[in-house]
Amino acid sequence: MERPRARVAIVGATGYTGAELLRLLLQHPSVTVTALYAREKLTPRVSTVLPALTGLCDLPIEPFDADDVARRADVAFCALPHGASIACVEALLARGLRVLDLSADFRLRDASVYKTWYGAEHAAPARLPEAVYGLPELHREKIRATRLVAVPGCYPTASTLPLLPLLAAGMVRPERIVIHALSGVSGAGRTPAPSTHFPETGEGARNYKVAGTHRHTPEIEQVLGDVIGAAPTVTFTPTLAPMTRGILSTQYADLAREGVTVEAMVAEARRYFAGSPSVAVLDPGVLPDTLWVRGSNRAMVGYAVDARAGRVVAMGVIDNLVKGASGQAVQCMNLMLGEDEGEGLRGAGMFP
Ligand SMILES: NC(=O)c1ccc[n+]([C@@H]2O[C@H](COP(=O)([O-])OP(=O)(O)OC[C@H]3O[C@@H](n4cnc5c(N)ncnc54)[C@H](OP(=O)(O)O)[C@@H]3O)[C@@H](O)[C@H]2O)c1
Repeated sequence: MERPRARVAIVGATGYTGAELLRLLLQHPSVTVTALYAREKLTPRVSTVLPALTGLCDLPIEPFDADDVARRADVAFCALPHGASIACVEALLARGLRVLDLSADFRLRDASVYKTWYGAEHAAPARLPEAVYGLPELHREKIRATRLVAVPGCYPTASTLPLLPLLAAGMVRPERIVIHALSGVSGAGRTPAPSTHFPETGEGARNYKVAGTHRHTPEIEQVLGDVIGAAPTVTFTPTLAPMTRGILSTQYADLAREGVTVEAMVAEARRYFAGSPSVAVLDPGVLPDTLWVRGSNRAMVGYAVDARAGRVVAMGVIDNLVKGASGQAVQCMNLMLGEDEGEGLRGAGMFP
């Protein structure tokens, strides 16, 4: 007998990740989107604020009301700014929903680390032990069993996936990892700001929040710590690049011993990601390009060895709005619902 389709709501449906969730979920074979919520952009028809959905979805955008969500949905995605998400997630969990939170509010397990990096006491620290970090390639079984997924950040996804197999196999040392990642401007969300205005981003590139000040730094360290047992300290430099979507992350780590080859790393990564529908490991000599994953839930990882320096150059590309946010959230939802992990997410990127 066919399973009934799960009813899905999106809170924060008018933003970039909300729009991407809608694009993916409207094509998903085993769910129905039943309700959309936002704060200010309320409208009788979603296509007023997301014209790309004209003719595809006629739902209204309504003010968030947890009781209303509970009546109309089994699963809720919260695509809200950090800080604003906590009360929403709390209210939905209390009403028995399964929740996937795209903000950073439930990603860091330690409330004091959250306070240090996000500048406020966590409003629901008792929930933190319940939240599972939604990187399926690392926590697949825990995601299947939880009611609350903290969907990873875009930089942490692109920056940790290539390192996971190498650290797990002891091929590289965790002590002096350096990460440099380029992001497209949609990573900053839909609200216009001078720093993301086209004339000030269209033809230039700039670093920001360097030298251990970007909020994704402790998240990256937490993920790597899950593999090696204790969180390492990393140097992370983000760069705003003149593209709409995409992250290219390059990680440098000392080889654990002489003679570790690219071929061995690629073979190890292929073993590690066997059965992961969203990660492709590139052949030695192939360097990943954000254009190969644009619009898809795929991550591509590649490796090179700098034998002179005794370091690996590991590389990962994702679309920040898909594998870096909404697609990864849908991947986790599939696991929570007992569906095939890649359901609704199998398409290739839009090249070029
Ligand atoms: N953009 C990315 O690449 C990316 C990647 C990974 C994770 N994330 C995370 O995902 C979340 C959403 O990001 P986004 O880029 O989609 O943001 P966005 O484009 O700015 O959209 C934010 C959404 O939240 C609603 N909202 C804003 N402030 C609110 C408040 N105080 N209370 C309730 N609702 C509020 C907005 O509704 P109105 O339009 O009605 O104000 C809008 O629907 C953020 O936490 C972000 O850090 C983003």
